[in-house]
Amino acid sequence: MERTLIIVKPDAMQRGLAGEVIKRFEQRGLKIIGMKLLQISRDLAERHYAVHRERPFFGGLVDYITSAPVVVIALEGTDAVSAARMTIGATKPSAAAAGTIRGDYGLEIGRNLVHGSDSAENGEVEVANFFADSELCSAWPRSVDGWVFE
Ligand code: RTP
Ligand code: MG
Repeated sequence: MERTLIIVKPDAMQRGLAGEVIKRFEQRGLKIIGMKLLQISRDLAERHYAVHRERPFFGGLVDYITSAPVVVIALEGTDAVSAARMTIGATKPSAAAAGTIRGDYGLEIGRNLVHGSDSAENGEVEVANFFADSELCSAWPRSVDGWVFE
């Protein structure tokens, strides 16, 4: 089972779309093992997006992601990383497929509503960056598991 970190970004929070975003991952069958509301500090944002530190959009990206409280969610499931990214859609919402979150609700790259980890390795690292072990319910027996996982 892979893990992925989802962030309902400030624009989705400001637009009242948190429930819509969470619903789509739930419907997909991905299992919520951690969830909380927090306002990301600049320090955590810079760590989370460290790979983009040298890019021209980095300052704006940190301003954006720290601008309002966000919902962070740890998900577990079969191919959780790629499945979640398919549900989220392409980075640039104007080019994202209809039916994806970004394709249904967004237009611009700097207002793209949701974050999802980009590899299984980063999924583990990002979940650990945002959640203490005591905040994760990793082995709860969800009653539908047998109908979602083979
Ligand atoms: P995320 O990490 O937020 O899930 O997004 P992603 O994998 O689809 O895209 P990534 O390449 O990791 O970029 C991280 C975030 O940086 C902003 N961005 N702006 N102006 C630009 O050219 C540009 N490129 C990226 C986006 O907000 C993107 O989600
Ligand atoms: Mg990314």
